[in-house]
Amino acid sequence: MAATGSAVGLGNIWKFPYVAGENGGGAFVLVYLGCVALIGLPVLMAEIMLGRRGGRSPVNSMARVAVESGRSERWFLLGLLGIITSFFLLSFYSVIAGWSAAYIFQTASGAFRDISALQIVELFDDFLASPWRLTFWHSVFMLITITVVSFGLHRGLERTIRVLVPGLFLILIILVLYSASTPGFMEGVRFLFKPDFSEFSGQAFLVALGHAFFTLSVATASMLIYGAYLQRSASIASTSVTIAFLDTLSAILAGLAIFPIVFTYALVPDVGPTLVFKSLPIAFGAMPGGSFFGSLFFLLLLFAALGSSISMVEPMVAWITERWKISRPKATWLTGGLIWLFGVGSLLSFNIWQEKRLLGWNYYEIVDALVSLLLLPLGALLLAVFAGWFMTRQASEDELAMPNKRLYQSWRFLVRYVAPLAVLVIVISLLR
Ligand code: TRP
Repeated sequence: MAATGSAVGLGNIWKFPYVAGENGGGAFVLVYLGCVALIGLPVLMAEIMLGRRGGRSPVNSMARVAVESGRSERWFLLGLLGIITSFFLLSFYSVIAGWSAAYIFQTASGAFRDISALQIVELFDDFLASPWRLTFWHSVFMLITITVVSFGLHRGLERTIRVLVPGLFLILIILVLYSASTPGFMEGVRFLFKPDFSEFSGQAFLVALGHAFFTLSVATASMLIYGAYLQRSASIASTSVTIAFLDTLSAILAGLAIFPIVFTYALVPDVGPTLVFKSLPIAFGAMPGGSFFGSLFFLLLLFAALGSSISMVEPMVAWITERWKISRPKATWLTGGLIWLFGVGSLLSFNIWQEKRLLGWNYYEIVDALVSLLLLPLGALLLAVFAGWFMTRQASEDELAMPNKRLYQSWRFLVRYVAPLAVLVIVISLLR
């Protein structure tokens, strides 16, 4: 349950719709589903398995499992890579979570009632144009994260988050029902599910792959931790399948809620990262009880993001306190502060730094690409290679404890050949 809570987050509701929109819809969605099932899921199983086998913090778990299989202790670097990836990921995640926080109040105030769709879009553009407002909400979000982590308060919060994931599903379903009543519904459905490969690019392939890892929380060290907490008796395979299924379902529901509104109100699907914040408020302005459901929606999204941010900071803080023997609050303020600083660059990329570009990409786009197109695929590749080639077969077979030999063999085939080759082929084809 906790791992599902970590997987379901901004990635599903904010990122999936916008990358699907930018990359042409149906074909992208199909490739993405394939990446989740054939690459993301086996690597997710591998990461949870390594975590449970190691039974410690990510860095130490990796070292321990490697030594157990007669390999170099240096594999601990793979745990560290996950922590570094979380660092960059959280720096922009927090900015978007801040947007969600701001929109709780915006929606509750009834600001979306009785104005046109165009004005609703402009409201968000105005918000984005103000670096100070963005900085304020990004800071609020990081401060809450730091406070929770430095006092070690997450137990209580994690329990709350477990209630919030079902809540998020419920609201998504209500939104999809609303969207089904709009004239653009069928067009939205077609956009999401009717594949058209004529304009599908190699880059879109990599985006789909990177997003599969992003959304499953793979390769950011957090699944190593959830694995360490997973009971011996629990099945890693069925746990992973449940996570992947619920995660994918929530993303599809978000898409089904958003795209019909996009087409009904003649917005464009490829506006980028602002998509959710420009489309759903139109529904909140129009549907009965919209201010209530809308603010509840952004509140739940904020809590989902908070659960994610805490699970991203936690491994970093654990590692720093272990490694340098500094106190927990100090370590938390230090990492939190640095993450905040890197995040400021991302929020400026939506206004004054928007046109400061390197090879055509602004700061936010660079950090996003660094995480989703480079660090996540690299981490996942190494996890698959380690689990498939370096860990002994006996150890992985024992740890996964699959009821059926064929299932184990299929998993092993996927992590040994399919996942590494797919990542390599996609990344190399782009470097050419
Ligand atoms: N999967 C999360 C989402 O879709 C994002 C994420 C990636 C994450 N790695 C994580 C969340 C580690 C928590 C911990 O929003």
